[in-house]
Amino acid sequence: MARAMLETLTPQPPDALLALIKLYGDDPRADKIDLGVGVYRTGQGDTPVFGAIKASEQRLLETQDSKSYLGPEGDMGFVRALMPWIFGSADPTLVGRIEGMQAPGGTGGVRLALALAKKAGVAGVWLGLPSWPNHAQILADLGMEACTFAHATPAGTVDMDALRGAFAAALPGDALLLHGCCHNPTGIDHSPAQWDEIVGLFAAKPLLPVLDLAYQGLGHGMDEDAAGVRKVVAALPEALVAYSCDKNFGLYRDRVGALYVVTDDPGRMGAIVSNGHALARANWSMPPDHGAAAVRIVLEDEALTRQWLDELDTMRARMRQVRARLAEAGRVGTVDLTPVGSQNGLFSVLPLTPDQILKLRSAHGIYMAGSGRINVAGLTMGNIDKFIAALAAVTA
Ligand code: LMR
Repeated sequence: MARAMLETLTPQPPDALLALIKLYGDDPRADKIDLGVGVYRTGQGDTPVFGAIKASEQRLLETQDSKSYLGPEGDMGFVRALMPWIFGSADPTLVGRIEGMQAPGGTGGVRLALALAKKAGVAGVWLGLPSWPNHAQILADLGMEACTFAHATPAGTVDMDALRGAFAAALPGDALLLHGCCHNPTGIDHSPAQWDEIVGLFAAKPLLPVLDLAYQGLGHGMDEDAAGVRKVVAALPEALVAYSCDKNFGLYRDRVGALYVVTDDPGRMGAIVSNGHALARANWSMPPDHGAAAVRIVLEDEALTRQWLDELDTMRARMRQVRARLAEAGRVGTVDLTPVGSQNGLFSVLPLTPDQILKLRSAHGIYMAGSGRINVAGLTMGNIDKFIAALAAVTA
């Protein structure tokens, strides 16, 4: 039989982060520790469905009377219900300046944001490294240029000089992507004063802000974690905001996210949004409904909203506790864990060599990303001493 094209394809490596899930699953050791992919874990090591989501799913099951198509924008009740949580409800000047659409997870939101930027003529996207590896993969897949700069200094602070340099070197019409909070992978976020400076830098040069807000509520609180995004949105004429409910509603595999577009010219909103819809249609037609509907039901109900916020508070407090415990350990072998205490969200990066990371895996059953990123939620009061001892052993 004659072959046409498929034999031209060469094998691709599996996504390194997702591959860790399988490697960890295949490890028979009972005391293994998963610090790999970014999912929250309780002190017992579980990733349960939120109680508020379980209750809302029950209600959805009882009340949903059709699964007929919605449209490329998905569940607009969900999209709108999230808006005050992301953008704050206090600012009346935002009315008419922001519109959104549902997307399959935060990844779908980022994909849509960057595809929309490309359609608008953006060629180069500035990206602080290290970043979530999928940012660069999506840019490559879209045929957009990733222009990179250092996100953090070796001392563990935001590298504002590098960011200023990126603004200086960027061409008008480029985009610049920033993490809204809980930076993935470093946990090193911009301070309120740094966000003020960022707003000023954007105001001085026509660059499109693309903000990725995937961990709202996991750092310091729902309002605190959106403060930077709100500053950008309030002060600048345009922005794209990709949003994920994967972590703060625990809906990972249900793929719940959104894209919000911000413009100071409401007359242009229809054109912008219609391009988003067209891109969604060509990519996935419409987003999966179930998880977004569950989030909508939570946010439409005061008691469920309170329950969800309480659950989020518990998660955040546990991550703070683990971070404090790591920071207390101070210098372990060659690694100073002190900065982990003031970093935010699920992740921190430890300065480990590839050999040390492999040794942690093979000799101690401790799984982390090849970048040295750890998911602090994988640590519990029951395994943290083992982790610290193993870190001391491999870096001695
Ligand atoms: C992570 O960085 O581990 C998460 O955002 C999961 C993912 O999709 O990579």
